Amino acid sequence: MLENMLSNLNDNQFVRNYKRMWPLAKPFWPAALLALLICIPVGALDAVIALFLKPYTDVVIVGKNMESPWYIPLLIVGFTTVQGLLNFASAYLNAWTGGKLTMSLKSKLADKLVELEPAFFDKSTSGEVLFRFNSDAELSCSGLLGNLKSFLTRICSSIALIGVLFYNSWQLSIMAIVILAVAVAPLTRVKKLLKKLVQKNNIYVSQLNSMYTETFSGNRTIAAYNLKNSQKTRFDSLLAHVFQLSVAMTRRTAWITPFMHFVISIGLGLAIALGSWLIVSGRITSGNFVSFLTALLMLYTPLKNITNVAVSVQNSFLAIDRVFDILDRPVAITDKSVCAAMPQELESIAFDHVHFGYTGGSEVLHDITMTIRPREMLALVGNSGGGKSTLASLLPRFYDVTGGCIKINGTDIRDFRLQELRQNIAYVFQDNFLFEGTIRDNILLGDPKASASDVENAVRSAFLSEFIAGLEHGLDTYIGERGVLLSGGQKQRIAIARAFLKNAPIVILDEATSALDNKSEAIVQQAIDNLMKDKTVIVIAHRLSTIRNAHRIAVINEGRLVEIGPHDALMQKPAGQYRTLYETQFKTRSMDV
Ligand SMILES: Nc1ncnc2c1ncn2[C@@H]1O[C@H](COP(=O)(O)OP(=O)(O)OP(=O)(O)O)[C@@H](O)[C@H]1O
Ligand SMILES: [Mg+2]
Repeated sequence: MLENMLSNLNDNQFVRNYKRMWPLAKPFWPAALLALLICIPVGALDAVIALFLKPYTDVVIVGKNMESPWYIPLLIVGFTTVQGLLNFASAYLNAWTGGKLTMSLKSKLADKLVELEPAFFDKSTSGEVLFRFNSDAELSCSGLLGNLKSFLTRICSSIALIGVLFYNSWQLSIMAIVILAVAVAPLTRVKKLLKKLVQKNNIYVSQLNSMYTETFSGNRTIAAYNLKNSQKTRFDSLLAHVFQLSVAMTRRTAWITPFMHFVISIGLGLAIALGSWLIVSGRITSGNFVSFLTALLMLYTPLKNITNVAVSVQNSFLAIDRVFDILDRPVAITDKSVCAAMPQELESIAFDHVHFGYTGGSEVLHDITMTIRPREMLALVGNSGGGKSTLASLLPRFYDVTGGCIKINGTDIRDFRLQELRQNIAYVFQDNFLFEGTIRDNILLGDPKASASDVENAVRSAFLSEFIAGLEHGLDTYIGERGVLLSGGQKQRIAIARAFLKNAPIVILDEATSALDNKSEAIVQQAIDNLMKDKTVIVIAHRLSTIRNAHRIAVINEGRLVEIGPHDALMQKPAGQYRTLYETQFKTRSMDV
């Protein structure tokens, strides 16, 4: 019956999931094994009390003899004490191994999380990430170990109690076991009943997580657009879904326990009837019957608990499936097995018939061919959504080209080690991310080993000195999560200082489109000029001053490179796209200021 239950519980999933988790548990397998071995005596000792009731009943209650069984109460207390101590050891070892396992799984997941390519994050929500990398990991490990522990304890306890049953009367035992088998049969259906609901529930919980992070990050937009009510409605509707699901889950599973109770009460009735006959006919003693009944009643608890365990085991298994979905997922952008060495001196960056489309979308960049010379400053201009940021993001391989290739000194960038390639590029984004911490922490990200004077230098070059001097804690000022305590221009200059410290030969700068006032713009511009000195620069230009400084300008319209050349040459084309763009966009913008 037990074997049946085990296999019914989850076909091959049981073995498969433990196999998958095994490499994680391997480093501390002795502790894990000990934790599990302790379950055997903890479970089996349950039977001792039932077993001792036989001599006690026969000798004391029926035989009225006080002499021999004096030790029984002592033994019961003794065994219970031993069981208690073992229970403690088991709980401790379980918490320890469970904690270790969770830690290593989460750390493995975190490795994966930082390794995954931007396309993964494009497709996921923050709620999903939280759920799958955090909650699922917890559910997988603690659920799995804890469940295995209770499972083993219950099974050992059941086996020992069944032993007591047979010791007392095989006829009664066979009957009892048939009835118990009927009672626990519905457990095998739990998995199917739950799977869909659990999956749905997880989707809602992920959405809820996302709602929380969205409300957090978007709080100003919510306030500005009076979205409080609609946001609240979305919350409420999700919460209602979660509630309905949990009710549905209970409805589908809660009948199992009462059903088991019912079947078992029939069993008890039959046992009493058959037992009485067996006693009267002299086949068993009264002690046998009392001991049998006690064991049968005690057997009910572990068997019933196996139901709950079966449900949690299912949940753990579903979580493990999801976790390994992520862990087994190949990382799209990685190193080749043999990598070319990154050249010391940059000679050229060549886009060679580059095509690119985001996964699931249509092509964004079409057949772009151009070569950037060392220490050249190339400005990318063009219509919004035309593909400038996309083009720039291909160089550090945030995404890989879908056609053609990008070469540095004639070598495909996919042949370089990713880390080395990115080490050679300093990227200042349109919207720069600052991490929670101080200004210094954020600048040091450019080069964690930089000396204090290097940092000072970067601060000066990014025109931050004056701003920092005015702060009470200077460079050690805490800037809040995502740098919320700073202005747009300040954030950008911190990002520039960071890029400065990195001192990479290639600089990619996606200029912020948000209008800065005249003075800040001039300051940011000077900071940018400093950053670009002696570097090969691709700048996505939104400012007249930037394109004026550029050696050449590439116009990207609707994903195509339509013109490339120096400002003067492009301006001479009578109906040139750059000329039109310059006259409508840059010139007027500069007049606005
Ligand atoms: N992560 C993404 N996933 C899918 N599509 C994207 C993604 N990022 C951008 N796109 C799409 O690719 C196209 C080019 O976008 P891109 O950001 O490169 O334009 P851009 O030229 O930088 O525009 P802007 O001047 O407004 O910054 C757009 O149609 C955009 O919708
Ligand atoms: Mg852009």
